[in-house]
Parts: sequence; C-alpha cells; structure tokens
Amino acid sequence: MRRMADPLRPETLALHADAGLEASADVAPPIHLSTTFDADNPERLVYSRDDQPTRRRLEAVLGALEGGGAAVVYASGLAAVTAALLHLQPRRVALARGGYHGTHAAIDALARLGVEKVPLDAPVGKGDLVWLETPRNPTCEVQDVAAHAARAHAAGALLVVDGTFATPALQQPLALGADLVMHSLTKFLSGHSDALGGVLVARDPALGDALRRARTVGGAVLGALETWLVLRGVRTLGVRVRAQTATATRLAEFLAPRVARVWHPSRPDFPGRELAARQMRGPGPMLAFELGSEAEARALPGKLRLFRDATSLGGVESLVEWRRKVDPEAPAALLRVSAGLEDPDDLVADLEQGLRAVAAG
Ligand SMILES: Cc1ncc(COP(=O)(O)O)c(C=O)c1O
Repeated sequence: MRRMADPLRPETLALHADAGLEASADVAPPIHLSTTFDADNPERLVYSRDDQPTRRRLEAVLGALEGGGAAVVYASGLAAVTAALLHLQPRRVALARGGYHGTHAAIDALARLGVEKVPLDAPVGKGDLVWLETPRNPTCEVQDVAAHAARAHAAGALLVVDGTFATPALQQPLALGADLVMHSLTKFLSGHSDALGGVLVARDPALGDALRRARTVGGAVLGALETWLVLRGVRTLGVRVRAQTATATRLAEFLAPRVARVWHPSRPDFPGRELAARQMRGPGPMLAFELGSEAEARALPGKLRLFRDATSLGGVESLVEWRRKVDPEAPAALLRVSAGLEDPDDLVADLEQGLRAVAAG
C-alpha cells in the first residue's frame, strides 16, 4: 500500500489494506487454487496449508480492520474457537450462560483434555481464558470488554471476544483491551451466506505467529474459494453493516408496540443500552423479539414472504428464525432476525402482514 499521511479509516482499509501484497495488475484479487509453489519463489510460498497469496491478502485486511492485529483465518468460526482453545490450553474458560450454543459445545468437547467451563464471573487464574460474546446471541446483550480485560489481566488470564454480531465495523475489542478477537467469517464479514470461515485476530503479533504455526499443524485452513469469497465480501462490510443496522433499528421500532418484547440496543428499554452506545459504533444489524406464545413464534416465519426462515445471520437476505429450533435454551416465544439489504419499507410491510396473519390464526 502506498504510504498515506493520515491513518486510513476502516472502510478504506477494507479495500486497500492488502494492496501491494501480491505482484499482480488485477484490480480484483485473483483466486489461487494451487496447493504447491515453485521452489525459490520471491514470495517464499511453499505449500497452501502454510500460506497462500489470497489468504495473505485476507489476513492483512482483517488485521487492519481490527486496528492492526495479526489475523489468522480458519475453516469455520468453530474451527477458530477450537484452535484458540487448543493453542492456549487454559485450565478454565469463564463464559456466560447462553450465547452461541456451538461455543459451549466446542469448550465442552475439550473437557477430556482438562479444560473446565466456569461461569463468567467465577475466579480465573494465570493461563485461563475469559470468553465474551458481545453482543450475545440471540438477544444482543452487551458485555463490558474493558472491564473484563482488566479483570482477566489482573489474574494473569487472557480475554477473548467473539465479536461476530458487531463485526469490526461497529466494535474494536483489541483497542478495549482484548487479547484475541474471534469472528465467524460465515456471517457479516463474508456477508453473502456463501462461505464458511472463521478468524482469530491477536493483539500480540507473536501470538498471531504462534497461532499461524499451530494452524499449519492443525490443518483447519480456509479453502481457496472461501478465502476469495470472504475477501470479496469484506470489501463492502461498512456499507452493508451500516444499512443493515439502520434497517434493524427500524424493524425494532416497528415491532416494539406490537409484540411482547423487542431486544435491540437501539431500544430505550434495552438492558445495557449505554454500554452498547459507548462500546459500539451503532446498535447493530441483529435483533430478537418475543411474541405472546410459542405457537405464534413458531407460526410467524411461515407467514413471512421476504424474510427467509433459516438459521445463520449476516447475509444480504433478511433471515428470521424461531430460535428454540436450534437452541434449546432460547426463550420459547423468541424469534431472531438478521436484517438484510432489502428496502426497509418492504420488510416492515412483510412483518405487518405476517403478524396480522398469525393473529388471525
Ligand atoms: C456468535 C457466533 N460465534 C461463532 C459461530 C460459529 O461460526 P461458524 O458457524 O462459522 O463455525 C456462530 C455461528 O452461528 C455465531 O453465531
């Protein structure tokens, strides 16, 4: 990248942080499928499990978006979670109840290796991990990154933040003291529901290097096509998340007087609204709401025409999901929405007719 006088802002970094990393006149990055490289090439590429050109570019962009961290990408978000746990080998992982159920399952899967899951506020010690998911799935509750970083560091522990719901467009956990940020790239960072991936971004470059070496041995690398798709998607992260956040805010406003409860950091009754405003650059593109009964919550997705009834989040299409279907701990009448890029008026009209249809039975 040519040197600029001022530090570049995130939306510019998403487009330019990888400039000059690859000798190519292409404006759009090429896709590299080769698994092996000629000996003695100037870029010192050897084998694609270690390193390959598109992955270098994607990691440069993701690291820049987190304010200059060392990014290491993986085959999925849960592969990134598991890689962090296997590399750091904590005795205890302090984690709140709820949140993304897969993270609990990944930690529980390592119980046989002596990794113990403890409540978020339980005492931790040297080498342990405090693991925050903020905002937290599915109700977007926000946890204080700076306070948990101070607490973890005072005990000799590290703080990991799963920032999947906020993305680096809205939240910078490393600047607030986190040691590692984790994202499912499958969601807003790739943004088009067509690539599975995950990333760890380390504040300490030495930790980033160590994770990269461990990934070469662990083998859970992001495939070439997915790497390219995420690099393509992340270019538009800022505009997508901005528009999707505005839409989520509008939907929350529409729903608030019509349903039992709305969960979105834009709402005046949202718990932790001030913390969200302080810690994030916007209330975010995810929301949840509760209807009067489980039966209504089960019925609504089938009545909607524009919202797809599907799990996951972060794509350009709006999704709605009766959350109990995949998460037994979710409240029985709760629906989760990932706001897409449709015209917000059309989405509001769809919800209006859907709620009417549910009420009519
Ligand atoms: C908050 C959060 N973290 C991690 C993951 C896991 O990511 P992946 O599905 O890419 O493995 C998900 C997936 O839904 C998620 O929502």
